[in-house]
Amino acid sequence: MTTTLAQKNMEAKKKVFGMIQAFWESQCLYVATRLDIFNILSEGSQSIETLAEKTATKAEKLYVILRALGHLGVLEEQPGKIFAATEVSDLLVTNAEPSIGHFAMHIIEPAQWDAWKELETCLHTGEVPFERANGKTVYEFTRDEDWSGDVFIKAMSFLTDHAVDALLDVFDFSRFGTVMDVGGGQGGLISKIVKRFGCKGMLFDLPYVTETAPAYIQKQGVAADAVQIVTGDVFEGLPTGADAIVMKYFLSSWKDEDALTILRHCREALPKHGKVVLLQCIVPDLGEPTVCPDGIIPSLFATQIMVAVPGGAWRTQKEYERLFTASGFQLENVVHTGTNLSALEFGLVD
Ligand SMILES: C[S@@+](CC[C@H](N)C(=O)[O-])C[C@H]1O[C@@H](n2cnc3c(N)ncnc32)[C@H](O)[C@@H]1O
Repeated sequence: MTTTLAQKNMEAKKKVFGMIQAFWESQCLYVATRLDIFNILSEGSQSIETLAEKTATKAEKLYVILRALGHLGVLEEQPGKIFAATEVSDLLVTNAEPSIGHFAMHIIEPAQWDAWKELETCLHTGEVPFERANGKTVYEFTRDEDWSGDVFIKAMSFLTDHAVDALLDVFDFSRFGTVMDVGGGQGGLISKIVKRFGCKGMLFDLPYVTETAPAYIQKQGVAADAVQIVTGDVFEGLPTGADAIVMKYFLSSWKDEDALTILRHCREALPKHGKVVLLQCIVPDLGEPTVCPDGIIPSLFATQIMVAVPGGAWRTQKEYERLFTASGFQLENVVHTGTNLSALEFGLVD
């Protein structure tokens, strides 16, 4: 059957309408998550009147949003304006473990929307939209605002758990004696590696970040002496002692010149057989799949990073390879995790 010009035209229009409506979808999702609608419905279906009462909202207005979420497959609407949870809304529950609901609230909160409004201007001025909109960096903002800070930490924990558990199923760290996580924050990743593979761990990060790491690592069920915490500035050098260095969403925080300094310090800290395992969401090159198995679109996420995060860039595999090659490394292994995270393993060139 041939496709007529009118049908093609309709398909193109459908695509654009879809993109326009995506922003309304995000807002409905954000509002319902913030109002605890998914938490309430996880305990059983409710009428719109009860939901409005529990959330101190106007029933007739709340209904408009929940009906839309029903049509989007997030909720199920039953006769008599009764709403019920679904598999999707269960994922958005925020009163238990860190969930995708926390990530939704972090990434769709008003300060982020305000940043997107500045994108066009910042393409001309070169500023970071989040900073132009909010007068401070996203890190300062989440440090200063209690609710935003709490949601941000939980959103990051969700993202780590989501991708790292899948990584550890397919990437074998047991062949390393000691693994060092550079820019490893509180030590979530290194704890999981040590626990799962029995190797020794090192955590390297800035002093103020690692302050609470010992307690956090022990809470993960890892013995205090299994992870050595070393504080410092990566631009001044890295400690020796590890035969593998992992960097998760660390190199992407820096421009090329800084990334090259970091890789030089990695090379100096590693023995001859040492490896660097780069953990990143990789932006696809032309012709490669544009959507990750978990639905993340790297090029779109890279735009969000440009809107909110100062410095750095999400890169393609070729761009990472160029940086590593220039630093005396060669790509030896690529492992995809079935989420948005990939592992690129680099060894030293003789
Ligand atoms: C984007 S976060 C990534 C954290 C963690 N790897 C993850 O995936 O969740 C970047 C990390 O780098 C650390 N960092 C920033 N500048 C640093 C520096 N100059 N030296 C060492 N660590 C630094 C930050 O404290 C933060 O923990």
